[in-house]
Amino acid sequence: YEVTWDAAAAEKGGYETFMEKEIHEQPHAVADTLLGRTDDEGRLVLDEVRISEEQLGQIDRIVVVACGTAAYSGMVAKYAIEHWTRIPVEVSLAHEFRYSDPIADARTLVVSISQSGETMDTLMAVKHARELGALTLSICNTHGSTIPRESDAVLYTHAGPEVAVASTKGFSAQITAAYVLGLYLAQMRGGEHAVNAQAVMRELRNLPEHIQTVLDRMDRVIEIARFMADSRSVLFLGRNVGYPIALEGALKLKEIAYIHAEGFAAGELKHGPIALIEPGQPVFIVVPGPDTPHELHKKVVSNIQEIRARGARTLVIAEDGDEDVVPFADEVIRVPATLPLLMPLLTIVPLQIFALHLATAKGLDVDQPRNLAKSVTVE
Ligand code: G6P
Repeated sequence: YEVTWDAAAAEKGGYETFMEKEIHEQPHAVADTLLGRTDDEGRLVLDEVRISEEQLGQIDRIVVVACGTAAYSGMVAKYAIEHWTRIPVEVSLAHEFRYSDPIADARTLVVSISQSGETMDTLMAVKHARELGALTLSICNTHGSTIPRESDAVLYTHAGPEVAVASTKGFSAQITAAYVLGLYLAQMRGGEHAVNAQAVMRELRNLPEHIQTVLDRMDRVIEIARFMADSRSVLFLGRNVGYPIALEGALKLKEIAYIHAEGFAAGELKHGPIALIEPGQPVFIVVPGPDTPHELHKKVVSNIQEIRARGARTLVIAEDGDEDVVPFADEVIRVPATLPLLMPLLTIVPLQIFALHLATAKGLDVDQPRNLAKSVTVE
């Protein structure tokens, strides 16, 4: 008797690698993270959050602590939660927070974000926050792990087990959970905040389908990744919620393709990074939706124009129907239109696919990149 199937291949559900499988599971990861979090009237209910409404109502500040990819989901959370609730949100790398003599008290909500729930740096930050008397809430993907146990409350992401070292569906689920938390706090604040939260929640429910649309359009991105297998440096620009996406796109490329990559806030370009632009330099630009306030869309389009004039190869991620980018783009990668603050769930997908296929074209093991561990349990 001969075993004609391979157990590891079966676990990958027809995909070549866990990373590819997990990228394609993102519509589910987001949908499942939203599941069961609203009542019949569409009001958010977070049963697992064991901090009383009274305590939550007294919060005057939020500090997010996390590492790596999780910290970038925290940066997205900052823009969204501040806009929806008007509660100030700070994002701190967990290892910096712990030893910076941080300020926190009973009116501070310290939100830790961790896929594994075991990252030692993040755990130490949470413990320190509790010593200071802060309320602690963990956004985590792993049931029964240490960080949620050491926290006052937990909001689980439902991405399912993530095997590939580089996080993908874990990231989308973290962003989704952070949105849910922000909308819940907005609902608690009542009035206009609550009305707006309802509208955002309705749109958030469309995101799994929009992510699937992006996944279905990735042929050209895969081709570009293969052409670019010899690249020595790739830059990423974004603004507002697109900024953490630029950082995360660069991190994915470093982690699995071992290519020097850097993300910048697009507004910072003229303050330094533009000096890096020389003919042929590839640059991804995450373009804010045309409805983003303060003309950020126009400002980023003019950044694209500036770098193109200096010879950059511009790889532009823009919404369907955004024609303003076309004259300055070597490639346009389209995502469906959504609310400006929800765009990260869509714009990250092409950057994950790009890193995956570029690393694959280089013959690298994308699931087990060199020198990295899935969860880092030492400080
Ligand atoms: C490690 C992994 C990263 C991950 C980070 C935080 O460095 O290699 O991919 O983003 O830890 O992990 P966590 O489990 O806390 O989200």
